[in-house]
Amino acid sequence: MARICCGPLHTFALLTSVFLILVHKDKNVSFAFSPSAEWQHSTNISYRSVQFRENLSSNVTVSADPRTHTRYVRDQCGIAVESRINCGCDRSLSRADCEARGCCYVPLPQSGLGGPPWCFYPVRYPGYKMGPLLPTEKGQRATLARSAPSYLPRDIPTLQLDLMPETLGRLHLTLKDPASPRYEVPFVTSQSRGHKDIQNPLYDVDFQPDPFGFIVRRKSNGRVLLNTTIGPLLFADQYVQLSTSMASSVISGLGEHYTPITLDLNWTSVSLWNRDMAPHRSANLYGSHPFFLVQEGDGQAHGVFLLNSNAMEVFLQPAPALTWVTVGGILDFYIFLGPSPQSVVQQYHEVIGYPMMPPYWSLGFHLCRWGYTSTNITRTVVQLMRQAKIPLDVQWNDLDYADQRRVFTFDLQRFGDLPRMVEEFHQLGMKYVLILDPGISSASPPGSYKPFDDGLKRGVFIKNSTGQILIGKVWPGPTAFPDFTNPTTQDWWTDCIRVFHSKVPVDGLWIDMNEPSNFVQGSVDGCPDSDLEKPPYTPGVIGGQLNAGTLCVSAQQYLSNHYNLHNLYGLTEAIATHRALLKVKSTRPFVLSRSSFPGLGRFSAHWTGDVRSDWEQLRFSIPGVLLFGLYGVPLVGADVCGFGGDTTEELCVRWTQLGAFYPFMRNHNDKPNAPQEPFVFSQQAQDAMRTAITLRYSLLPFLYTLFHHTHSSGSTVARPLFLEFPTDPDCQTIDRQFLWGSSLLISPVLEEGALEVTAYLPPGTWYSLHNGEAYYSKGQYILFPAPLDTINVHVREGSIIPQQVPALTTTASRRNPFTLIVALSVGNWAKGELFWDDGESLDTFEHGNYSYVLFFAEESYVVSKPVKLNGSLDGLVLGEVRVFGVRAPPTSVWANGQKVHDFSYSQDTKVLTVAGLDLPMTAMITVQWS
Ligand code: NOJ
Repeated sequence: MARICCGPLHTFALLTSVFLILVHKDKNVSFAFSPSAEWQHSTNISYRSVQFRENLSSNVTVSADPRTHTRYVRDQCGIAVESRINCGCDRSLSRADCEARGCCYVPLPQSGLGGPPWCFYPVRYPGYKMGPLLPTEKGQRATLARSAPSYLPRDIPTLQLDLMPETLGRLHLTLKDPASPRYEVPFVTSQSRGHKDIQNPLYDVDFQPDPFGFIVRRKSNGRVLLNTTIGPLLFADQYVQLSTSMASSVISGLGEHYTPITLDLNWTSVSLWNRDMAPHRSANLYGSHPFFLVQEGDGQAHGVFLLNSNAMEVFLQPAPALTWVTVGGILDFYIFLGPSPQSVVQQYHEVIGYPMMPPYWSLGFHLCRWGYTSTNITRTVVQLMRQAKIPLDVQWNDLDYADQRRVFTFDLQRFGDLPRMVEEFHQLGMKYVLILDPGISSASPPGSYKPFDDGLKRGVFIKNSTGQILIGKVWPGPTAFPDFTNPTTQDWWTDCIRVFHSKVPVDGLWIDMNEPSNFVQGSVDGCPDSDLEKPPYTPGVIGGQLNAGTLCVSAQQYLSNHYNLHNLYGLTEAIATHRALLKVKSTRPFVLSRSSFPGLGRFSAHWTGDVRSDWEQLRFSIPGVLLFGLYGVPLVGADVCGFGGDTTEELCVRWTQLGAFYPFMRNHNDKPNAPQEPFVFSQQAQDAMRTAITLRYSLLPFLYTLFHHTHSSGSTVARPLFLEFPTDPDCQTIDRQFLWGSSLLISPVLEEGALEVTAYLPPGTWYSLHNGEAYYSKGQYILFPAPLDTINVHVREGSIIPQQVPALTTTASRRNPFTLIVALSVGNWAKGELFWDDGESLDTFEHGNYSYVLFFAEESYVVSKPVKLNGSLDGLVLGEVRVFGVRAPPTSVWANGQKVHDFSYSQDTKVLTVAGLDLPMTAMITVQWS
């Protein structure tokens, strides 16, 4: 198919549209739009007429040339270079091509590659014309119509705009084809939340009727958050484009990419197309998250979610502005007004769903590698970890266990006693997780591999465009791919998991290779030559084609074609696996997925894939983890010590220290590499790793409480500093440090050989978690010692952190005494809380089946007050209290009115330690000093 329609009819249409503009210009038609009678129906959103000169340079050149045409071109093309919207997002254009599109061609001295475009849209480039807005159930609706075709094949000539103010801070806006329904993303949101009677929302919306565009403003200060009038709306069958100005250049999101926490707007682009690809710059990686958060510069923030699962490229430019281009679906925008960055995240999570509550054990340390080639080797690893006295909750096996790499089997030679090994681990209080790839081997003789035979019978596999099962190639060789959008597949998958689980009682499943990854392009038979496989425009994806490293996109799934559903493959597998585990085990499922899409966090954890064992990847793992928190997948981590290549002892120590503060902590390694389990290193390194992992274990009650908050209200666990200190400009881009919740600041070493770390402390008092030493910061960088055995962690004034004495597993540590770290503020108060349940039952929060304890402290006492008890805290005691920032040395200490003798006070650090307590957590506790 021709990439761009250039036939005579089209050229005629183009000329006509240019002519129409000229006429408008010459008649000096006012751009102001007067609301018609129908517009009176608008309720709470003000629809003002709009004058459009934003983002235009004032020095428009008006030619002396008497010909109107030239005058028009100069006038309409006088756009500041950084604000040029590329007229050739789909392909590069010669001057003739450019002008044939009615665009401006103004070369710049530097190369046209990677910088500002030479061919860009003139002001008011023709697009859709908007009709009157009419009231609907959920808000308002208007029809948009093109008066002339665009330069794209298969324009959608008429669009339906729906504007749905859903909450005070959330606006929903869709653009779709009213004539014939187009693909819309399933699974992610419940679409029934329109309330047109929102009173006094945080936003105003204005429309430019012709050419259509909209402007969203923050009502409180009039700030323009989105202005889509800066470029045209293009809406063709396989090409949808919209541009907007941005309120600032500080933007986070649009993953999954290997980036810092904020995006580079210097004429870059990011593509969203799930791909099996080791993290590196400028590549589309395993997941797609078409959401971004903008820090507006004064502490306020907003977010935009384009709910669209088609291959997408987002072009970023310094204006600041961006252009979304997607190759299908509809435009389905959610705009979140915050106003704080944390509330933007919560508003986003309200739409995509709050994350699941993880089982407690999944917060412990996990150990894996590709290359534990037998049960005996796997057992030995566990023994050596225990001998080294390093906590380990979860032992994993990679594909090594499977017979001929076929999932739902295990190799009888090397893993014949797998069920017994799993039972042994359970006896130790540990858990066991196995890898489960989606590709089902299709080459075994009929009758010899039930998952395939059954799947075939039940019709669960993805079909190619001519209706045969699509066969690709993954680890076991030829494979078929289950279609998880088909309800029958859910039943079949559950059955496969049930049968396997009855033999091997795994505690969780690791769903890998689920982009889905395919070692041949499309299928073993190639892909048809079609519009889907070769769309008029392909976003800049690794491999150049949508079917590179995955399935033919013309493949047929139950709900649509793979072209539309590709980015949902991992999400749908996670949903099916989560549901299967629910049925089979009736405890909280643990699923770890590589591929992701919005909503994944309701069902699964995520790891950042095949990171290399090097210092740069260590450093970039922090923004990687923090961004997934914004995306609603808080249980996330990178492979500790790196997956690809040999680690070094120092790197692995530093990575273990940082990994101890990933919400999900797993050391995982690739087959050919030097081993990297903690016990293979020197005694000094082992000690450092043990210290880090033990510190994590002591903090698990605090971490678990953070997960309760993210599960119940959509907050974040590992948190970028800007979320907590939004008005501090120094925090806007920090991604070498991060917080746990609002209280713990983690400042890891990220450079080889470094024995110090320069850490930013936001204004206030921060205490070293290790010894309680106080640092008073005006908002400044401070140099801290960081010897090899130390990771710097600071406690924010005013917090109380519940800890528990660590043990080798969480099964054991959950029975140990609690400790409270009380970090007094300058005003001499502190507060904190503990969420506690049995760690694995379903929906404990939803069913009220949990305990909740509040902690508060003032100048000379701390109180622990259970506000809800369900039996989960029975038998558990408070053993110790450490109070940071006690200014005067106490002479006496009382616990629940009884004098305590086992206490100490450090004059140097001003820390009071009250030890040897044995007070039931189920009753109110008061510890006082004077
Ligand atoms: C790719 C995964 O990213 C990696 O973690 C795993 O070890 C291999 N597949 C083998 O299963």
